[in-house]
Amino acid sequence: MADADTTEAKNYATSVPMQNVPFFLKGSNNLDWGMKNRLAQIFDPTSGRTVMLAFDHGYFLGPTSGLERIDLNIVPLIEYADTLMLTRGILRTTIPPTYTRGIVLRASGGPSILKELSDEEIAVSIDEAVRLNVAAMAVQVFIGGEHETRSVHNMTRLVDMGNRHGIATLAVTAVGKEMVRDAQYMRLATRMCAELGATYVKTYYVDEDFDTVTASCPVPIVIAGGKKLPEPEALQLAYNAVQQGAAGVDMGRNIFQSKAPAAMIQAVRAVVHENLSPTQAYDLYLALKESDKQSVEN
Ligand code: R5P
Repeated sequence: MADADTTEAKNYATSVPMQNVPFFLKGSNNLDWGMKNRLAQIFDPTSGRTVMLAFDHGYFLGPTSGLERIDLNIVPLIEYADTLMLTRGILRTTIPPTYTRGIVLRASGGPSILKELSDEEIAVSIDEAVRLNVAAMAVQVFIGGEHETRSVHNMTRLVDMGNRHGIATLAVTAVGKEMVRDAQYMRLATRMCAELGATYVKTYYVDEDFDTVTASCPVPIVIAGGKKLPEPEALQLAYNAVQQGAAGVDMGRNIFQSKAPAAMIQAVRAVVHENLSPTQAYDLYLALKESDKQSVEN
């Protein structure tokens, strides 16, 4: 009998207004609860940033170097990632379902490295994304590429489907060999993706004016690691990107092709979440690498 309660026995804190806490991610305040909850499985609410471990390369490259055996090479690293970016094939076959952080599912595909890469289609249904309980779907967008319009439509269709179910869409700005990688191009590509509905955008870091890319994009930007660099340079890249407004990294080859992948991902985390300088992070990498080596020897 609800009405049997008396106000005297309860504390309604009537003088304390209920707080309206803004969501921590740029441009995401007006999203629904489910979408925000999924984004909080990708981005750390404390730092507002993410270290996405990317190993979806096989969707057009096959078993590239470092990804020959995902069970042996990648699964030991997943505890250090904020989220995993991968294909449904690898998710189902190789990733333990006990993994509880966010999954960013590769949702476009088609051509292999042997063909025109911009010739992609949507490669996953929304039912499948829901069934796999993913936090976001990732789609390649080829601004200036041969199949530019189709790739943009792939993205907008995924945005529509994802929004219906509270699943985020990550637009991956793909850079063709013939395209100039500069801030002007990155501003165009990232802004187009955001305007057309992407929840967040992945792009490449550029040495000049990267802060104008993050400033002019109204949703979070993460950077791809790109081809393998010496560890100090990869840590510098991550540092420069987050200091200039990136909300983290989506890093693959610079982690799994490193001589010490577990040490490397932990050093990248320290840069992204704790603002460690590249020099401090490289020292951390060397120390972790050494202690990993010793524990293998013992
Ligand atoms: C492209 O193959 C994928 O979208 C990768 O996930 C992305 O390029 C990030 O990986 P990496 O750091 O190796 O460039």
